[in-house]
Amino acid sequence: MKKIMLTGDRPTGRLHVGHYVGSLKRRVELQNTGDFDEIFIMIADAQALTDNADNPEKVRQNIIEVALDYMACGLDPEKSTLFIQSQIPELCELSFYYMNLVTVSRLQRNPTVKAEIQMRNFEASIPVGFFTYPISQAADITAFKATTVPVGEDQMPMIEQTKEIVHKFNSVYGETLVDPKILLPDNAACLRLPGIDGKAKMSKSLGNCIYLSEEPEDIKKKVFSMFTDPGHIRIEDPGKLEGNTVFTYLDAFCRPEYFPEFLPEYENLDELKAHYQRGGLGDMKVKRFLNNVLQAELEPIRNRRKELQKDIPAIYEVLKKGSEKAEAVAAQTLSEVKAAMKINYFDDEELIKTQAEKFSER
Ligand code: TRP
Repeated sequence: MKKIMLTGDRPTGRLHVGHYVGSLKRRVELQNTGDFDEIFIMIADAQALTDNADNPEKVRQNIIEVALDYMACGLDPEKSTLFIQSQIPELCELSFYYMNLVTVSRLQRNPTVKAEIQMRNFEASIPVGFFTYPISQAADITAFKATTVPVGEDQMPMIEQTKEIVHKFNSVYGETLVDPKILLPDNAACLRLPGIDGKAKMSKSLGNCIYLSEEPEDIKKKVFSMFTDPGHIRIEDPGKLEGNTVFTYLDAFCRPEYFPEFLPEYENLDELKAHYQRGGLGDMKVKRFLNNVLQAELEPIRNRRKELQKDIPAIYEVLKKGSEKAEAVAAQTLSEVKAAMKINYFDDEELIKTQAEKFSER
């Protein structure tokens, strides 16, 4: 069976370092292994509209921001198909048929949808499109016969729901859809990178993000304002690592080569952590190190982004070409789905013949 990767992001803002360690970095690594027969990276504008229906301009403006972030991180249109969800009408058609295979109560139990409804104060007036977006996400995944979906932990319920739809479809209509596997980051810090304030999730609405395109001065300011261990007051005090955002970020971003480069007194992160826990290591020193690490990680991304920004029409061209290619693939799957569901009347010569016979006997 072909190995096919599909994933995507909602275009509601520039991408941040949480997106990077949670999924983007892995996608680029996987792309460059050459292990996949096809890679599809989707800008999920239709999904973004499910809770931004009154703000289409926001979605429209952020398409290019996300595309620039993708390519700046190393997603390469020669190797990966970058496309825009709304340009693939087949996804709507698939969703429409999948809706028959999912119950309202199953959607109500989806933990991500539940949390998002609370966060947006939608309780009394949930838009139907928002409520059903896990079904449309199943269409996104199955349309491309994805075998691997690299995403963050919060997307786990969506993949579970997709698998249920796949199993249900295949058992009712015959083996047609491909069962996808989720691919989570293997490092706990990357799984759920907190915001700079230590809050559970980095998000634009909480104002606790470091963006991929952030300028060096702003990265530094944000690192120095980061939440650490509130009980670690004097340098001599023993410090805690749990819930210490600076160390969580080091877990997510630090590479062995950064020690000789920026902090040669320590061999590795374990030594640095042990010193902090013992006492005698100040927050400022750790923050200076993290700042150097983040600057080193983000500088090449920011520079590539600035290069790419010089030719914006070329980026739209990439998305247009990618959307054309993606639509052809989705159309093929849709025709298989319609055949399995027996709604391919005009392609079915056998149907026409048997009906003709039936009526000639009357
Ligand atoms: N729900 C994803 C997010 O919020 C975006 C998305 C839409 C997606 N369709 C997808 C991710 C299909 C993976 C596969 O980030």
